[in-house]
Amino acid sequence: MSVHPVETVRVELGDRSYDILVGAGLIEGAGPLIAPRLRRPRAIVVTDETVARFHLAPLQASLEAAGIRCDSVVVPPGEATKAFDRLSGVLDAILDAGIDRDSTVIALGGGVVGDLAGFAASIVLRGIGFIQVPTTLLSQVDSSVGGKTGINTRHGKNLIGTFYQPGLVLADTGVLSTLPRRERLAGYAEVVKYGLIDDPAFFEWLETNGPAVVDCDPAAMRRAVVTSCRAKAAIVARDEHETGDRQLLNLGHTFGHAFEAEAGYGGDLLHGEAVSLGMVLAFDMSVRLGLCSGQDAVRVRRHLESVGLPVRPPAGHSVEALLRRMQKDKKARGGRVTFILARGIGRSFVARDVDLAAVEALLVDAMAA
Ligand code: GLY
Repeated sequence: MSVHPVETVRVELGDRSYDILVGAGLIEGAGPLIAPRLRRPRAIVVTDETVARFHLAPLQASLEAAGIRCDSVVVPPGEATKAFDRLSGVLDAILDAGIDRDSTVIALGGGVVGDLAGFAASIVLRGIGFIQVPTTLLSQVDSSVGGKTGINTRHGKNLIGTFYQPGLVLADTGVLSTLPRRERLAGYAEVVKYGLIDDPAFFEWLETNGPAVVDCDPAAMRRAVVTSCRAKAAIVARDEHETGDRQLLNLGHTFGHAFEAEAGYGGDLLHGEAVSLGMVLAFDMSVRLGLCSGQDAVRVRRHLESVGLPVRPPAGHSVEALLRRMQKDKKARGGRVTFILARGIGRSFVARDVDLAAVEALLVDAMAA
């Protein structure tokens, strides 16, 4: 497979700035891209069983051909892997391999592997090198960029973790065609999110080209990933620690997380599917509050529905339980729930004082529809 053409997106964070390379063939071509950026040619790849079957051998072969000595640790796939016992196993594997402070952890996989491996890299020996090689659409456009790492506890998702930026991200768009369509679609919801936050021209492009992206047309997919990474890089550069603009990336997430949590993270509702539904509700809420035109909300719903993403809540959830979830969301501060609302497509903003009675009324109507 050719490593051409590759596009570069820069995340500007002073002396912690890094590149995101986007293109097909980057896993097979990883060695020469990674080698010049290592302090020492020593690495350990963290991956999961599913991803390992397809991509671990080509990655390791490329690294070793470039002179990088490389071990691997393979964890089970799935959200349950983001847990203390797995973290402890990964830390032990890193130390057992004789990794030192000049060595590098390479995360090969989706968001679960990236978050777990990044957290391990950030705390082992007080922090060693870290590179992300995301293999899902969702991780290429969102979780591998911006340095959030972490694990879940019984109190909720991602409640323990660090901000720890990678030194390089290799987003191999060629591997996305091997994903189940449902997983790719779920990642596509996060792509749409960038258009809705502040890029109406991108949303318009997606209205025409979304099906090509979801079907993995190489040029359309590369453009979607590059545009999404650029959007995220710009936001992270402005607000690395999520005290301001980075909260915009949670468009659809306050509603979405509540449905995702109620569904139990068991695969009934994938994260991106919950975000799709959440973005529809955020636009509906914005219309109800007189902020946004009904036509814009219809365009959002129509586009997401047209590619096959969920736009209606799954039946059977209690509105009270959903509201309780929102109030417990880790982004709630001082008991106030933060929503990302919109004045139109590409005009999203952070809203802190949304009347919960209005949210409740919206959910009652949405659940009854
Ligand atoms: N996934 C949202 C963020 O990175 O801030």
